[in-house]
Amino acid sequence: MPLDGSLVDGFGRIHDDLRLSVTESCNFRCVYCMDDSNTDFLSKKEFLSPSQLKCLLKVFKELGVNSVRITGGEPLIRKEIIEIVQAISEIGFADIALTTNGTYLRKYAVDLKNAGLKRINLSIDSLNDEKFKKIRRRGDLQTVLDGFAAALDTGFDEIKVNVVAIRGINDDEILDFIDFSSKYGVTVRFIELMPVGATEIYRDENVMPKADILKAVTSKWNIVENRRDNNPAVTYCGVDAQFKFGIISSMTEPFCDTCNRIRLTADGHLRNCLFSTSEISLGDMLNQGCGNDEIIRAIRSEIFRKKSGHGTNSLGYVIPNKPIYKVGG
Ligand code: 5AD
Ligand code: SF4
Repeated sequence: MPLDGSLVDGFGRIHDDLRLSVTESCNFRCVYCMDDSNTDFLSKKEFLSPSQLKCLLKVFKELGVNSVRITGGEPLIRKEIIEIVQAISEIGFADIALTTNGTYLRKYAVDLKNAGLKRINLSIDSLNDEKFKKIRRRGDLQTVLDGFAAALDTGFDEIKVNVVAIRGINDDEILDFIDFSSKYGVTVRFIELMPVGATEIYRDENVMPKADILKAVTSKWNIVENRRDNNPAVTYCGVDAQFKFGIISSMTEPFCDTCNRIRLTADGHLRNCLFSTSEISLGDMLNQGCGNDEIIRAIRSEIFRKKSGHGTNSLGYVIPNKPIYKVGG
């Protein structure tokens, strides 16, 4: 195991992107994420405090992490969210992004920007009121679109729109989202449904694969594929129209071989993969008074044993014991 330098795993992948969950709670109950009746959330007293977060983030910075994405649950329902963004910014991360369902985006857009937030991923899923309700189960589309407008006005470096494509629900909205991209100049990312939620919806027949998403777009538009970077989404542009979209094909074309992500839960557990079934508690280590050297050794060894792939198609795959809203989307 390397003793210094960046966070390398046993397959030589360098990890410089931290997904930081700041709460498990959410005001929505998306069908791909959790049951309608779900109340299995960490309580506030279990969260890492902003000062504990600061300690751990400094350690991750020292280990070469340069990008932090704040997730949840819904991160904007965490009371200290602005203080947390500010702390991340002060530590000096090159990139700070946030994934949100948009409910409180209108309220917080300007404060988030002033605190140092650079980029936003907004989950919309449907541009049709009824379908939106069917997928998200709570809230309403207009509030999310108002949040989107506020974020556009505020002027972040980048706003991306997420759409989990679900066969039989929003699979007929691909072209509507292409129009949305062209109208507002934002990238829309279609995401294949993954078996990581506390939900019954995951069945192969509910996945809309990348090939079918491409077929829907090319039924109307000529597109070109952009050069691939370290991003999980393969992105495309319109040839005769101004739009940009991506496809995150975690299921049909996994991108594990270039994965650079690690995850920290709201109570300080480090996970080396969304699909991981193991974790270590950095929160406990802080509470026990462990020093930075000991924490760094623990982080390195957890990253080093990361598996080569998520293995959802392999014999013996087990759905992770923590769903995505507990690990950070
Ligand atoms: N499959 C695919 N994407 C998911 N997300 C959450 N659960 C799933 C799932 N089961 C993504 C959605 C959501 C973000 C937080 O994570 O885009 O908005
Ligand atoms: Fe909430 Fe996000 Fe899960 Fe939807 S996907 S229920 S918005 S945490």
